[in-house]
Amino acid sequence: MNKTNIDIQSLLRDHIRSMTPYSSARDEFEDVSKENIFLDANENPFGTATGEPYNRYPDPYQRAVKAKLSPIKNIPADHIFLGNGSDEPIDLLFRAFVEPQKDNVIILPPTYGMYKVSADLNNVEVREVALTADLDLDVEGILGKVDENTKIIFVCSPNNPTGGAVSSEKIEQLLSGFEGLVIVDEAYIDFSSQPSFISKLSEYNNLIVLQTFSKAWGMAGLRLGMMFASPEIIKVFNTIKPPYNINQLTQEKALEALDNVEKVEDMVDKLLKERTRLEEALDKMPFVKNRYPSDANFILIQVEEADKMYDELVEKGIVIRNRSKVLLCDQGLRISIGTEEENNRFLEEFSRLG
Ligand SMILES: Cc1ncc(COP(=O)(O)O)c(C=O)c1O
Repeated sequence: MNKTNIDIQSLLRDHIRSMTPYSSARDEFEDVSKENIFLDANENPFGTATGEPYNRYPDPYQRAVKAKLSPIKNIPADHIFLGNGSDEPIDLLFRAFVEPQKDNVIILPPTYGMYKVSADLNNVEVREVALTADLDLDVEGILGKVDENTKIIFVCSPNNPTGGAVSSEKIEQLLSGFEGLVIVDEAYIDFSSQPSFISKLSEYNNLIVLQTFSKAWGMAGLRLGMMFASPEIIKVFNTIKPPYNINQLTQEKALEALDNVEKVEDMVDKLLKERTRLEEALDKMPFVKNRYPSDANFILIQVEEADKMYDELVEKGIVIRNRSKVLLCDQGLRISIGTEEENNRFLEEFSRLG
């Protein structure tokens, strides 16, 4: 059932609506399976200096990866866009939909920093509506900030840096109450008990879901982000993206990982057990004033002297993230869940700081 029917074309920036994409050699002649002689892309026929087969341009649309990802995410391949990390689709969202010095976007601090960085880079006004004291969405406040030039609301759930998921009902209230795009960034969804919003794409045509291979999939170094949206939006992204945005090696490694989903599930299980163990240990430390519930692979705590504790841990060779200057995270320290040994070292050193 369609709960929203937003005119996506009218949200696009004018020049994007009429844009012709770059036509690459692999767009014009797609079939690389036959024994053809390829003299069309000015590649080097010999291969790399190391003898590896990376002399050919990769599939611009990563069809094999999307075909494997589609049943795992339970969404047709034409609803998937892959980016160089999630940061690429975040930037492309601005370039496609948000007119610099005219349009605006809404972010909900404390939240992931790249939405504002991308907005600043694209010379776009950012409106901020803080999460409520219990770290949920202030739907009324958010909708109150919307005007006719508001194009995007960025929701991060589970949220970075606080760790908790926000209420699904409230995200749906935004989707149906806002005539623009709602981005639900689910970078940490594999660690959450909440279901993904991917299943809501058939109901809301203004919904865009972001996920990444950088967290549960353990592939941050390869840079692969996922965006799920209507085929209409995916088509726009395919028009404006750099032609070969996902390199061959990343595509190959993603295909291997997608054949080993159970290993990812194992890692997530281990990390969740470690998360519980860390939570229980932190709760026993008298100098930990507050621990936020986590749906992610990190825990945010509040202490008395965050800067001092952060520096002392660094001196011991343990690096966590000092979030003490971030809104609603006063004296906050964010700890990523490591291996059992890493977490033991952290607990040992941290408990001595009290
Ligand atoms: C909420 C959120 N979204 C996206 C990202 C970035 O993901 P990627 O590595 O795919 O660019 C992060 C990274 O920390 C994040 O916390």
